[in-house]
Formats: sequence, structure tokens, C-alpha cells
Amino acid sequence: MGLLDGKRAVVTGAARGIGYEIARVLGQAGAAVVIGDIDESAADDAVKRLAALDVEAVSRRCDVTDEADMAALVALCTDGFGPLDVMVNNAGITRDATLRKMAIADFRAVLDVHLTGAWNGTRSAAEVMREHGGGSIVNISSIAGKVGNFGQTNYSAAKAGLVGLTKASAKELARSGVRVNAVQPGLIRTAMTEAMPKAAWDAKLAEIPMARAGEPAEVAEVVLFLASEMASYVTGAVLEVTGGRYM
Ligand code: NAI
Repeated sequence: MGLLDGKRAVVTGAARGIGYEIARVLGQAGAAVVIGDIDESAADDAVKRLAALDVEAVSRRCDVTDEADMAALVALCTDGFGPLDVMVNNAGITRDATLRKMAIADFRAVLDVHLTGAWNGTRSAAEVMREHGGGSIVNISSIAGKVGNFGQTNYSAAKAGLVGLTKASAKELARSGVRVNAVQPGLIRTAMTEAMPKAAWDAKLAEIPMARAGEPAEVAEVVLFLASEMASYVTGAVLEVTGGRYM
């Protein structure tokens, strides 16, 4: 028996990285998975990799900032598998620069993908979940939203904003049986973070009591917990997955 047997999940930004691992872990726990990603060919590829693991998955090109795209993504789940039970708002981008150098377009782009995207996903998912009698929504924030990162005023603001979005929507949706929670990963080993200069990587490592970076699967397992009935009385919560960094 898997924790999500017979359930349906939508994961945004799941063509690669942490999102892919979330799709894999939810899928291997028994859920049918719908991947939405702006990179259509990478999303198709992810579906093939999941199929090789016996995970039932489909994908669709989706820009999370676009209302029609998001509605179509949720409809792909509802029409193909049935009403969605789990929504994971994971898609993200970075456009790092100091305040002095950051263009307003880069501030807006990051806010738009992380925050407007998650709001859009929450709203579309909630519409189905309310009617269906419940569900679980998980927003992927970041420890940057708790402490603020140098050179990431845009990203830190977006990730802090996700905490407010999570708590406000948890209050609105609780009576409909919909739980909304957030995860704040710290330094996780993905293509994006491994591209960091060694000195920056080492400086971050020195801040982590567990003295290592996290793996994408270690974030995905926490998402699985929040998605499942094991977290049936957990809503509006923010779980840090950081190896103890900035506790
Ligand atoms: P990644 O860059 O490997 O993957 C992000 C995915 O989102 C890509 O597949 C990309 O095509 C997709 N995407 C970008 N813009 C999109 C849009 N407008 N619509 C739909 N899809 C879009 O990133 P990673 O590292 O896997 O991060 C995933 C999430 O975890 C992000 O929200 C990130 O902010 C968060 N996070 C990552 C940490 C890390 O150490 N890697 C730490 C804390 C949070």
C-alpha cells in the first residue's frame, strides 16, 4: 500500500531538479502524476523516465503565470485521471543581482513565477478540491524567504510572500477540507546550485549543522508527508528542510 494509492497529483516545474523528484516520490507512493513545465521537451522526457519506474504520468507545457495554462493543466488531471488531490507549486527561476544592479524586470519576473504562479496554482486546484471534498496543496518556498539572501531581493521577497499565501489560503480553504502548507528547503544539490562557485558553496556548507547539502529526494519525502493523510491535521505550516541551517 502506497501513501497516495488512487490519488492524483499535479506538480509544476517538474521537468527536472526538485520538482522531478517530487513527481517521482509522489508517483512511487501510488499517485498518478501530471507535470506542468514551461520546458515542454524536458517535461516529455521526465514522463518517459517516470514511465520506466512504473509511474503513471503525463505532461503539458504550462507557464504557471498564465491562468489559461494553469486551468488546462488542472483539467488534464481531472479529465485524464480524475479530480486532483495534491497540488505542488514548485516552478521557479532566479535572476540574481544586488539592489544596485537588479533591473525592475528581473524583480517582477521572479515575483511573477514564484508568487503569482503559486497563487494561480492554488486557486485552480482549490476550485476542484472544494467540490471534490478536500485535498493538499504544497508550496515550495525557500529558507531565503526566512532569512533573506544577499543578491536575491527578488527571490527572498517571493519566497517570503509564499508563506503569507500559504497561511491565508490555508485559512480560507480549511473548511473545505483543503490543507495548504509550505516547505522551505536550504542548500539542495541540483544542477542550479552545483553551478555555484566553489567558494560560495563552501561558505554555505559551513553554515549547515549537518555539514552537507540536501538531496532533492529529501525535499520530496517531506512533500509526500504533507500530501498524505499522515499530515491530516497539518495546515498553514512551514517545514524547514535545511539540515539545521538558520534554525
Ligand atoms: P530548477 O531550475 O532545476 O527547476 C525549475 C523548473 O521550473 C524547471 O524545470 C523550469 O523549466 C521550470 N519553470 C521555470 N519557470 C517556469 C514557469 N513560468 N512555468 C512553469 N515552469 C517553469 O530548480 P530547482 O533547484 O529544482 O528548484 C525547484 C524549486 O525549489 C524552486 O521553486 C526553487 O526556488 C526551490 N528551491 C530550490 C533550492 C535549491 O537549493 N535548489 C533551495 C530552496 C528552494
